[in-house]
Amino acid sequence: MRNNPAEIAAKVAEKFRRSAAIAAQEGILPYKSAEGKWITSPYDGNSWWTGGFWPGLMWQLYAQTKDEQFKTEALRAEGLLTAEFRAFRYLNHDVGFMYLLSCGAHDKLIGDEQAALDTLHAANLLMGRYSPVGYIRAWNEKHKMGYAIIDCMMNLSLLFRASRMTEDPRFEKVARLHADMTMREFIRENGSVAHIVEFDPETGARVGEVAGQGYALGSSWSRGQAWGLYGFTLAYMNTKDARYLETAQRIAAYFIAHIREDGLTDSDFCQPAGEMRIDNMAGAIAACGLIELEKLTGCAAYREAAERMLDGMIDHCCDFSENILGILTHCTASYHDDGAGRHNNITYGDYFFTEALAKLSGTDPMLWI
Ligand code: GLY
Repeated sequence: MRNNPAEIAAKVAEKFRRSAAIAAQEGILPYKSAEGKWITSPYDGNSWWTGGFWPGLMWQLYAQTKDEQFKTEALRAEGLLTAEFRAFRYLNHDVGFMYLLSCGAHDKLIGDEQAALDTLHAANLLMGRYSPVGYIRAWNEKHKMGYAIIDCMMNLSLLFRASRMTEDPRFEKVARLHADMTMREFIRENGSVAHIVEFDPETGARVGEVAGQGYALGSSWSRGQAWGLYGFTLAYMNTKDARYLETAQRIAAYFIAHIREDGLTDSDFCQPAGEMRIDNMAGAIAACGLIELEKLTGCAAYREAAERMLDGMIDHCCDFSENILGILTHCTASYHDDGAGRHNNITYGDYFFTEALAKLSGTDPMLWI
């Protein structure tokens, strides 16, 4: 890698000391940053699916530096998230993202009985979304009752964790059923993945693919490819089921073939040629998955691809100035809807960028397992 990951990680930690102090002073959960300020989530308050990435980032930085400021800030954010259990209305399958990186990380890194119970509570909420006809329901809107989405592969880690915590196999069983369904129904012949597949909620019959946050129906939203890549890698790490590793490798081959010359990641791998729509969050998530794949298979090409993407982000899209409070720019939440951010700095971009640097410099506490 051209850049030194440990040096960049140290700069990241330095910047977040000030940015975390600002978030704490304002009492908010940061979602994105612009013009030197934090901006909170665009929808659903602290129940918005991204809420766990801020405490997750703080735990990553705590593992890296042992600086108590990061731990204190992670715990403050966790309090905001556990308050959402009571509100409940907006929680969905993304309780995996939200509570694994907050309560789950808390319990994993420093041990805490209440955090462990809250992690199990979240796992039970996710279990409650499993339909016996064969899928975990993603979202809450009535007309989306039959929707399952590729992103859920990341949330399954919460179920695998819950089975290990309780020795109750039900959680892992549901995670495996959903992962097997995803292998069958989402993965295309060329290794790309669908974002949303709709099922008949009564029978489980496949209704069809639905256009999601990518360019068009049937296209390849890059963040969806990244969720699939890292999600199946984690499913393999949790189960040692070779079919999950093989699936992660198929998605990885497709992803690597689409990395841009400059190391950045298009928002959709089928977007019109010449269209400048970047999503560095996809690149950062995929980099995490690829680094783990290299460790699992010994294939250097995975790590080289991850490093090429990280070098691209560091050279072109890292802003260490006070213009923004986070670091990674050119994060795009959705191809056609700019409401949640287009070419912005968004916290989960910084989370996965930091996790990838931590993997390369040996400080990653592996919060997903
Ligand atoms: N999990 C939703 C997204 O990636 O935007």
